[in-house]
Amino acid sequence: MRAVTIVDGDLRWAGHPDPVAGDTEVMVAVRAVGINAADLHQRRGFYPAPAGVPADIPGLEVAGEVVATGARSSRFAIGDRVMGVVGGGAQAELALIDERCAMAVPEGLSWEEAGGFPEAFSTAHDALFTQCGLALGDRVLVTAAAGGVGTAGVQLATVAGATTVASVRSPELRQAVAALGAAHAVDPAEALELGPFDAVLELVGGSSLTGAVGALAIGGRVAVIGVGGGARAEIDLMGLMHRRARISGSTLRARSILEKAAVAAAVEAHVLPHLISGRLRVPVEATFPLERADEAYERFAAGGKFGKIVLVTAGGQT
Ligand SMILES: NC(=O)c1ccc[n+]([C@@H]2O[C@H](COP(=O)([O-])OP(=O)(O)OC[C@H]3O[C@@H](n4cnc5c(N)ncnc54)[C@H](OP(=O)(O)O)[C@@H]3O)[C@@H](O)[C@H]2O)c1
Repeated sequence: MRAVTIVDGDLRWAGHPDPVAGDTEVMVAVRAVGINAADLHQRRGFYPAPAGVPADIPGLEVAGEVVATGARSSRFAIGDRVMGVVGGGAQAELALIDERCAMAVPEGLSWEEAGGFPEAFSTAHDALFTQCGLALGDRVLVTAAAGGVGTAGVQLATVAGATTVASVRSPELRQAVAALGAAHAVDPAEALELGPFDAVLELVGGSSLTGAVGALAIGGRVAVIGVGGGARAEIDLMGLMHRRARISGSTLRARSILEKAAVAAAVEAHVLPHLISGRLRVPVEATFPLERADEAYERFAAGGKFGKIVLVTAGGQT
């Protein structure tokens, strides 16, 4: 097979041996793969792949057609359309996914949407519901709300009956984010005035976290998921105590297969039905052919996008 391959910080389209499905894995002919910031970090050598996945083939999420199944895998059959989060190796013609981390692609969902769905919606669902315990009527702040995880978070919070404030630094993207259901889609400084917040999906880090903690309601919860704006922040600990607030952090990639399977099961049970009904959608800013990944990475890094950048193979053009 051929795959996007990291060679000394460059991306090459290179040949590799075909992967072989392990006992509980399925092998898919890849149709679409969303790009994530982690891929760009991995390319620069800052985010090595976990054990068990190819070190030089990036790609944290995949959508494709099952072409082989492992000896103990029984959930899917050859020809099924599946999607899910993987530890790496997805930006290739063939990729492996543990069947417990995969879910069926709903009928009517395009390949590009399926490729852009798993990582953003799994991350946002885990942060808002598992970590922050989002509840009906909560007031939620989503920072960096125009990106992949942000657009997922805004929609999930809104569908769950929360009032959502979306912080978006590009003025031209605010209307599109508001159309996802946010009560307010505003400049980051203005967003803080619209609290107090019961839950915060913190995708920027740095001084954004400082502001978010200061805008929490009593009992407020913050999930720190991204630190593109800085991995260190000053926190008013007295305010944190008075608000009886909690800050948690997490990454998906470092979790075990069983932990990732639990995330996938929650997404399958609670998120997929809303994707099928059309209440949730996967905004895709642009698609690129898989073999032109370097252009896609450039577009991702340029920012100013609404939702996801997705790589597609010839079979993923829809
Ligand atoms: N912990 C995890 O498991 C996990 C999983 C997925 C993603 N993440 C992280 O979560 C973050 C969001 O991911 P994503 O996939 O949504 O990325 P994305 O699609 O690239 O979106 C990032 C968004 O953040 C905005 N942004 C970047 N720096 C900012 C700053 N200093 N102030 C305000 N806004 C800023 C960008 O705005 P512009 O367009 O104006 O640049 C963009 O809208 C990333 O840091 C990513 O690494 C973590």
